[in-house]
Amino acid sequence: MITKVKGTHDILDMTLFNAVLAAIKKHVALYNFSEIATPLIEHTHLFERVLGAHTDVVTKQMFTLHSEKEDESLCLRPEATASVARAFVENSIMQLPWKVFTWGPMFRYERPQKGRYRQFYQVSMEVIGSAEVAGDAQFITMLDRLFSQALQIADYVLHINFLGCTDDRVAYTKKLQRFLAGNGLTMCTTCSVRAQENPLRVFDCKQEQCQQSLAQAPLLTESLCSSCSQEWDMLLEQLDLLSVTYSHNPRLVRGLDYYNKVAFEFLSGRLGSQSAFCGGGRYDNLIGMISGKETVPALGAALGLDRVLLLLEDQENLTIMPSREPLYVVIPTEKAYHPLALQLSDELQSHLFTTELIVDGSLKSALRKANKYGALYALLLGEQEHKEGTVTVKDMITGEQQTIAQIDIVSFLR
Ligand code: HAM
Repeated sequence: MITKVKGTHDILDMTLFNAVLAAIKKHVALYNFSEIATPLIEHTHLFERVLGAHTDVVTKQMFTLHSEKEDESLCLRPEATASVARAFVENSIMQLPWKVFTWGPMFRYERPQKGRYRQFYQVSMEVIGSAEVAGDAQFITMLDRLFSQALQIADYVLHINFLGCTDDRVAYTKKLQRFLAGNGLTMCTTCSVRAQENPLRVFDCKQEQCQQSLAQAPLLTESLCSSCSQEWDMLLEQLDLLSVTYSHNPRLVRGLDYYNKVAFEFLSGRLGSQSAFCGGGRYDNLIGMISGKETVPALGAALGLDRVLLLLEDQENLTIMPSREPLYVVIPTEKAYHPLALQLSDELQSHLFTTELIVDGSLKSALRKANKYGALYALLLGEQEHKEGTVTVKDMITGEQQTIAQIDIVSFLR
């Protein structure tokens, strides 16, 4: 047997997936976002440049592809922010802010587990050309309202932190490095490497010994310059004003290097260890990294659709689920009446009735199938119906049967 590739999964019923996507699209449209699409394949170099050379995504998780050019490395996109930023620069978008969202599969070579896949789906929302704290407050509020009101996700939390400007980060990184080097800490091998190459990443480690070692580490929000400190206070005030519930997590640094200032994650304990179902923040320097010119301030977030689905699958009475169209089942009692059944199905479908034609098996098994499908009516066509130009209409709930002229069937069902 040929099986699926490790870390991928089949989605055998797209109803909830599509309902979630439709609810997200409707919600972000309220905030004037428009939909775009970028390719699944990009130059590896794009991600190497913007995600950070020492991030897990770039060092361990890239799916690189064969290219016809020797000096060209291509990859399956591990995330969409770099692609959206590339599209912004490459297409010389002038009208700011550019508020766009895009969705689709992303690829990361990770160790698969519940909620963590090698092919997974994200909805990525980006605002390019927005510098004000009010923009951050509205964006985070938009996400919070999406989860609490539009999707009605039960019991989640919003963690938020402030990473400061570039100068703050440089100063803080040195401070942290001094702390990591000078306190005789016991840390895992990965963190010992991180302490040298990308110190902020040590906060991502889930190992008990590292967590304990970091308990006394200096905090980013205590090392902010006065302007960043003011922005951070203002952001929290505006979130309070909009009644967004958050928790300040001073150790939240996010796994990608392009963030500055605000960073946040929405988490749920119901997801186990892969608890974040949405993450994002500000990335004021990213556009400049791609264009090589002056940068454009921006912020965004990506929601992990697979994880949102895991959360909603666990919940009852989902209001986003579309109501099912009533189903009509056409059953010819013998092969000789298949042509008549084909015509009747075709007619019903042209009048927008959802219709299933059952031509396999006995009448008894066809009726059993109709029951399983949850059909409203079964329309039976046999010798008598053929002769008299009628249809026997069986109400699948009460079991009652009536004879209706074939020419009247559409108006009868209406
Ligand atoms: P991220 O935190 O790497 O951020 O991913 C965002 C979300 O995608 C995560 O919170 C999670 O729900 C989902 N996700 C990530 N990896 C996997 C995986 N292997 N399997 C299943 N779900 C996963 C970004 O990707 C940034 N581009 C977000 C962003 C947009 N920042 C600014 N704009």
